[in-house]
Amino acid sequence: MQLTADQQAMLEGQNGRSKQKAMQILSTLGKIYGAEVMLPVTSVQVSGVSYANLGEAGLDWLSEMAVDGSRVKVLTTLNPAGMDIENWQVLGIDPQFARDQNRVLDAFARMGINLTCTCTPYLIGNLPNLGDHVAWAESSAVCYANSVLGARTNREGGPSALAAALTGFTPAYGLHLDENRRPTITVGVEVQPTGTWQYGVLGKAIGDRLQGQQSVPFITGIGHASLEELKSFCASIATYGGTGLFHMRGITPEVDNYTAPEEVIQITQADMQQAASKLQKALLDEVDFVSLGCPHLTLAEVARVAELLAGKKVKKEFWITTSRPVKRLADYAGYTTVIESAGAKFAVDTCCVVAPIEGRFKAMLTDSAKACYYAQARNRFAMHILPFDDVVLEACR
Ligand code: F3S
Repeated sequence: MQLTADQQAMLEGQNGRSKQKAMQILSTLGKIYGAEVMLPVTSVQVSGVSYANLGEAGLDWLSEMAVDGSRVKVLTTLNPAGMDIENWQVLGIDPQFARDQNRVLDAFARMGINLTCTCTPYLIGNLPNLGDHVAWAESSAVCYANSVLGARTNREGGPSALAAALTGFTPAYGLHLDENRRPTITVGVEVQPTGTWQYGVLGKAIGDRLQGQQSVPFITGIGHASLEELKSFCASIATYGGTGLFHMRGITPEVDNYTAPEEVIQITQADMQQAASKLQKALLDEVDFVSLGCPHLTLAEVARVAELLAGKKVKKEFWITTSRPVKRLADYAGYTTVIESAGAKFAVDTCCVVAPIEGRFKAMLTDSAKACYYAQARNRFAMHILPFDDVVLEACR
């Protein structure tokens, strides 16, 4: 792998021990994947932020990376943490966990990372342009960046994303290269989904069919989708199919560069029903936890929650998960007062998957197919998916 003089200097430790370790990670990855050069990145999204995921070993590693005062070279945002940084007590977070989570955030802050703690960096100013090379780690955001924004990123792990942030580079392989962005299979969608939940179900239906194939699907049959629908779809197809990039007419900026591959699979109404039924395992009477915001809610979604909750009271634990900047706008617009008066709770900077709530609830209701997957796999909750509005109304039942 060819390194520039600056990159070689980093590798030799001339810019400090942290940047040396970072360049070692990147050059090792580059060798493994056959990269010929490093590419400059315009932004980074780091995952592995929740102390529940990192533990003491992960925190030790982060602290070592922060020890020599090295700072990130490009705009770097963080994935959700394990708690609401300002309001963790309301969510029933253990004080010791809060102390440990704050030690993690301190380490990131020492490296100059913006403590945004959201899986929707593209909603809060980390918004790459068409063709920009970035190094993002959150799978839903990776899929969104590649497929909707036309930026280029592999799905980084936490360490490789941090290494890219500290050096400003990522090895040129995978989805950074034209040849790996070509569609490999056509997916004909015979239904027109509506709403975040149906786009999540569609992501599962396609993802289940593609699983393990490392495909780049060329999706036909979808004419238009909203930001919120695409956010949900990206999270779901990345979760169930491992998809980092799809092409969709009218959505993907690069789609006109390609023709639909000959190999075709169809997604029918029956496929959608089957996928939905797998996400509706819990009985609604069992539901004791309601969560919206996987991925984090947009301001329009928060506004809709406020509209639906006005004058009502929720009867179950109800978390609204979003980013801090969106919450600030919700405060300003008056949505927060309406939502909290109804008894629902904002869970800002975190989410129902990375917060330490394993086993705390019996059954979760959501509009998110990705949240359903992790509710079961990680937190041992039964789950049920419904349309966004119905989730809010059911929380009041
Ligand atoms: Fe975001 Fe948590 Fe879902 S990180 S995509 S809200 S699992």
